Amino acid sequence: MGVAPYALGFAAANQEGTFEALPIQGTIPGWLRGSLIRTGPGTFDVGKQSYRHWFDGLAMLRRFSFEDGRVAFANRFIESRAYQEAQAKGQISRGEFGTTARHSLIERLRDPLPRLTDNATVNITLQGNHFLSVTESPMPIVFDPVSLSTLDYFHYQDSVPGQITTAHPHFDFRENAVYSYLVNLAPRCSYSIYRMDATSNQRELIGSIPVKQAAYMHTFGMTERYIILTEFPLLLNRLSLLVSGKPYIENYDWQPEQGTRFLVIRKSDGKVVHTGESEAFFAFHHVNAFEQDNEIVVDLVAYPNSSVIQSLYLEPLLHHSDQVIAAGELRRYHLELNRATATYEVLVEEPIELPRIHYQRCNTRQYQFVYGVGCSQSGHFIDQLVKVDVQNRNAQIWHQSDCYPGEPVFVAAPDAATEDEGVILSVGLDSQTQNSFLLILNAHSWDEMARVQLPYHLPFDFHGQYFDPIASSWSHLHR
Ligand SMILES: [Fe+2]
Repeated sequence: MGVAPYALGFAAANQEGTFEALPIQGTIPGWLRGSLIRTGPGTFDVGKQSYRHWFDGLAMLRRFSFEDGRVAFANRFIESRAYQEAQAKGQISRGEFGTTARHSLIERLRDPLPRLTDNATVNITLQGNHFLSVTESPMPIVFDPVSLSTLDYFHYQDSVPGQITTAHPHFDFRENAVYSYLVNLAPRCSYSIYRMDATSNQRELIGSIPVKQAAYMHTFGMTERYIILTEFPLLLNRLSLLVSGKPYIENYDWQPEQGTRFLVIRKSDGKVVHTGESEAFFAFHHVNAFEQDNEIVVDLVAYPNSSVIQSLYLEPLLHHSDQVIAAGELRRYHLELNRATATYEVLVEEPIELPRIHYQRCNTRQYQFVYGVGCSQSGHFIDQLVKVDVQNRNAQIWHQSDCYPGEPVFVAAPDAATEDEGVILSVGLDSQTQNSFLLILNAHSWDEMARVQLPYHLPFDFHGQYFDPIASSWSHLHR
């Protein structure tokens, strides 16, 4: 099999740039007046070395700003320590998710433990007035939302213990607060659940849950009263992480006999009030969770095991493009508080990933629509957008040959009357023109409204957020 037709999506961006007005086909709604800011890899190469996994490339920010039907654009590398050291040394300096940094003996003697990466390539959040680019080390990078220049680390004023976190914190709109967790890799591992006011830099520890082996968890669920940590049996060998020299994720072992556990943690006091057990499965992304009657409903994108992680190394992505696993099964788990076993149903057959909802309106509540990417053929890479109606259990597709769309971000229309009144913003690659583009769909009708042409390609990215022009609130901020 030759090189994948979407290989350009894993090639370095040719340049950083700023454009005041990009060419548009179609019409952008006049009410769209904010900015979509995204993060993802900008390059997979440093000197003669290459990162090995999609999640590893050095982070680059992308910004699309909308005003009076026009679209401005900028892209710029994040000048993290990982980036600066790589530039200075001409080689990979910090280990990433699936790549190890090779150090000289002198460097290893001076610095025997692997250093955490600050390569903030996964998601964007807003804390107070600070725009943050984040990854799974608790070292968010503050950037200027207009110039995209790197400013500083976001400095926490607390001592909540932990070295690993999620790039997908949850926001509680009633409390105006963030909920998230850290994994503390002390000799006795624990999960530190915390809360942080929206404008603060102080995390309040609300609960600490001891565990024998920490699980790899990319996201978590949240209802009105509970945090749900879904502990997949992809479990950390702590000693291996410290001494093996293997890439970060390869120190986790898939132990299906352990099953998957849902830890239900009360937000008010940090107590684990329920543990739901299920057959082993793996997921990156929770979609939504809510309470109804005597149960907690948890929607997520499931895989039978953790082999999706192996599938997203660059070698299989580029050279075995008929055997890729890049989307999973949309499942609804039911956690009944008086029953140990969690049960599930498949919401639709259509594979999905990078799921988004109308977050401000629907998170922690009953809802109807999930937007995501999908695959037109089993074993192929992401090549379509999917809108799932979880109430009527059906899916609509946007697909076009040679196009590889990314995470669909929902932006609600002003005073939207219905859950899906608004637009979808998705950055895709057109392998025919060899350029990226921004696709704008009517989220309700699922029709294409406009397409914005970029003058070059961008590597495939992960997550982004839409911000109002005055970004002093989380009013349009989705996960
Ligand atoms: Fe994610």
